[in-house]
This record gives sequence, structure tokens and C-alpha cells, in this order.
Amino acid sequence: MKIINFGSLNIDNVYNVQEFVKPGQTIFADSFQIAAGGKGLNQSIAAARAGAHVIHAGCIGPNGLFLTDLMQQAHVDISQVLTLDAPTGHTVIEVNASGQNRIIVHGGTNQMLTEDYLDTVLAQADAGDLVLLQNETNLIAAILYKSHEKGMKIAFNPSPMPQDPSSLPLHLVDYFMVNELEAAQLADMQADAPYEAILDRLAEKYPQASIIMTLGHNGVLFSQQKVRLSHPIFPVEAVDTTAAGDTFCGYFLAALCRNASINTALREASAASAIAVSRPNAAPSIPLYEEVEAFQRSAVL
Ligand SMILES: Nc1ncnc2c1ncn2[C@@H]1O[C@H](COP(=O)(O)OP(=O)(O)O)[C@@H](O)[C@H]1O
Ligand SMILES: [Mg+2]
Repeated sequence: MKIINFGSLNIDNVYNVQEFVKPGQTIFADSFQIAAGGKGLNQSIAAARAGAHVIHAGCIGPNGLFLTDLMQQAHVDISQVLTLDAPTGHTVIEVNASGQNRIIVHGGTNQMLTEDYLDTVLAQADAGDLVLLQNETNLIAAILYKSHEKGMKIAFNPSPMPQDPSSLPLHLVDYFMVNELEAAQLADMQADAPYEAILDRLAEKYPQASIIMTLGHNGVLFSQQKVRLSHPIFPVEAVDTTAAGDTFCGYFLAALCRNASINTALREASAASAIAVSRPNAAPSIPLYEEVEAFQRSAVL
């Protein structure tokens, strides 16, 4: 079983400043870094480092080739990635002296998928394969319908949360990968509602689906019909939580592709994301499967 990920690919432009620039003002940045980003890219890398066969589907512009190079180094299949004559999806991120950020996203080529392109990619799919998608590309509903028609299992990470989730055919989703805030929004409940109540509501609303609800340092909850499972975090010194959820998602789905049990999938994904949290940066912080195995052997829960 393989994963086809219709995922975003972003160039993150990160500017460190003392204070956020004010209207009409021009300031010098203290430093600047370019990083590979996009939930799609991170999740493909995580699933591939976990050992899954991952085909990444998405579009870049001519300035985005370093993104596909990085995915290829992680053994993601990039043969379906299209290069268009348009700017790659990118962000402008200001980080001020107190560590707060402000982010502008330009969807760029992430928003230029076409129905023909979906059909070309899905010609590679076999029934029972897993399709993965987030909400950073266009044609979400079409991806859901077309992959369902193919008999694929569907994993949806609705992030950022769609304006109107009820307009999407979410009854086709087999796995919802959500953090606590996304779960509350999807359930139409207050963010401070008890986790179990949110999970119950989601299980009632989407009885066909498994819900994987990550809770940051509070671990993860899982629900599938009447089954409820949970896993605590592996305690680490948190250095940078960027890509924690993406690492969890990729590792969890990779375990399912190997037919591992849900308990194993939750444990491996928790260990992998704990390692990612203990290291700086996004994609570079995602561990290899060997590292996750060694970490689990040494960890005391
Ligand atoms: N401080 C932490 N220490 C160890 N593991 C963590 C920590 N924060 C998050 N994780 C792990 O990463 C998973 C995903 O984190 P979460 O914050 O829920 O996702 P997102 O990045 O989507 O908000 C958690 O379920 C947990 O297993
Ligand atoms: Mg979080």
C-alpha cells in the first residue's frame, strides 16, 4: 500500500527583526533564512523517512527546485511534481525579538492544480492505496471525490481549517488528522470544550471515519466508532514544535501502510514527533525510522 500526497510545497522566507514593521515604515532585518516548508512537503518527508512508499503530487515554479531535491533525498517519489511557469507557493515570516511571528502566505503554484492533473496522478493509484491531503492546495473536493471513486482510503488534515467545511464531501474521509483546535472547529464546538466531548461529537458527525486528535504536550486521542485509544507524549526538552503535527501525521499513516496496529502507529508517531520537537527547524527535524526505533528503546514513559 502506498501513499499519494496532494500536498503543498512552500518556500519559507524568514526575517528576524527587533519589532514588526509598522505601516509606512522601512526597516532592516537582523537576519534572513530560506527554508523548505508546506505541510504537504513535511508530511511526505515524514512518511518516507518512516519507510512508506510516498508519491508526492503538487506544483512548483522554477524557483522551487530545491524543495523537490530535498524530498528526493528523503526518498519521496517526485516523478509527479509539475514545474509551472509561476511563483512557487511561499511565505514571508517576520519573527520579532520576543519570538512572535507574523506570516503572509502566497499560494502560488499550490493553488494551480487542475482536474486533468489530478486524473494523471490518480492513474498511478491502486484501490486500497492511501491518499493524503491538507487544505493548502486548491481542488480539495475534487481530490476527495476522485480518490474515493478509485477505491482509495482518504486521510485529510484540514489545516488551515476550511472556511466552510460543510461544503466539502467529508463523509468520504477515512482518517481525520486534526490538532485540538482544528478538532473543535470541525466539531463546531468551543476551543476550550473537553477533549472527550469534541471527540464524541466528531465520531457522531463522521461515523465512517477514524479521528486522530493530537493535543500538543497532552499527547493524542484516537477514535473509531466505539473504540477509544490514547497515547501520552514522550517527554523531551521542547526546542521547536514546528512540524510536530506533520511528523505525527506522516509517521502514523506510514505505520498503517505496513498494517501495523493503531496502538503501534500512535506510539511510533508520538516518538517521532517528540524527536522532531527536540530539534530546531521543520523538515530537517523529522527523524529517520532507525532513530525512532532507538529512541523508543531508550525512552521511559
Ligand atoms: N512538547 C512536546 N513534547 C513531546 N511531544 C510533543 C510535544 N508537543 C507535541 N508533541 C507530539 O507531537 C504531536 C503533534 O503535536 P500538536 O501540537 O498536537 O500538532 P500541531 O503541530 O498540528 O499543532 C503530539 O500529539 C505529541 O505526540
Ligand atoms: Mg499544536
